Amino acid sequence: MKLKTVKEGESTFFIPDAKMPEYGEVFYHPEQALARDISILVYKAKGVDVLDSMAAGGARAIRLAKNGVDVIANDFSEKAVDLIKKNMELNEVEFEVLNRDVRKLYHERRFGAVDLDPFGSPAPFLHCALHSAVHMIGLAATDTSAFAGSYPRVSRRRYGMNMHRLTNYPEIGVRGLIGFVIREAAKLEIAASPVFTHIFRHYYRVYFELKKGAGRTDVILDEIGLFKEQGPIYLGNLWNKNLVKEMIKISDKIEFGHKLTQKHLELIEGEADFSKPFFEIPKITKELRIPCPPQKEILNATKGVRTHFSPQGFRTNLSEDKVKLIIKKLSSC
Ligand SMILES: C[S@@+](CC[C@H](N)C(=O)[O-])C[C@H]1O[C@@H](n2cnc3c(N)ncnc32)[C@H](O)[C@@H]1O
Repeated sequence: MKLKTVKEGESTFFIPDAKMPEYGEVFYHPEQALARDISILVYKAKGVDVLDSMAAGGARAIRLAKNGVDVIANDFSEKAVDLIKKNMELNEVEFEVLNRDVRKLYHERRFGAVDLDPFGSPAPFLHCALHSAVHMIGLAATDTSAFAGSYPRVSRRRYGMNMHRLTNYPEIGVRGLIGFVIREAAKLEIAASPVFTHIFRHYYRVYFELKKGAGRTDVILDEIGLFKEQGPIYLGNLWNKNLVKEMIKISDKIEFGHKLTQKHLELIEGEADFSKPFFEIPKITKELRIPCPPQKEILNATKGVRTHFSPQGFRTNLSEDKVKLIIKKLSSC
């Protein structure tokens, strides 16, 4: 495999010398540096050891190790494992590297946290990953059309959800993913509480704290319901505020690999207090057939904050009816 090097944060990686490395012999996506930055903050703040169970060339595992997180990397591709070893040498870090199919590995060993970063959907791996994770699971989904309601049959088949297209679908989608994880964990009497959620383009990422117990599981299941006839989705908080604060606190010690990570984190810090789904301004003004008032005025009038989910979105504790009324009023000024 012909290789080239890229720098990401504090690390340098060999990656396949392909025009689009996400389609190379071993996967590497430069845009996902943002998600890797965030995962360093989450796992470091939580102080857990991590199995990077689908590590590809080891970008996440190496960055975690460079930032003082105990990590084990795994991938079932031999080429990926060779590349991880080369990248370990290049970055002068050492950790255990496995060449296993995760579906077997998850049943054999347990890890403080399991990171599950598949191509597309985490659904086929989730149940066994939950057997392997002791304190946390962090997972990604890139099959966002299943959550966006573009393919309702896929949503139903893969996630047991009914979804249709909604104005704020990225958030409803990610809440659908969270609801799915909670329901899957509940089968094992594990309460899976989301502690950090973010999306970046087509990439959804959620981190859960896991606690055993039927009572706790029932409590978190109570936070699942329907939203405008869609779901079941998770209706509670997407972030644990203390974790977000801790992540912000340690963030100046991390060299980020993506230029938007800091901004992303700041937006999330602002919205972490709000549990209701965000509103998309142009969708509301289009529905009401009115001109769009400036976002700043809407934020002031609704005591709202911006959201990382959409540059034209905002979050408030007010009801949808109240929000519409305010926007209508501002629009007529
Ligand atoms: C999207 S890539 C992971 C990207 C990586 N985490 C990163 O940040 O660059 C998915 C990886 O999972 C591996 N994979 C897929 N199915 C697997 C399985 N059943 N067991 C182990 N590895 C698997 C693939 O070889 C691929 O390298």
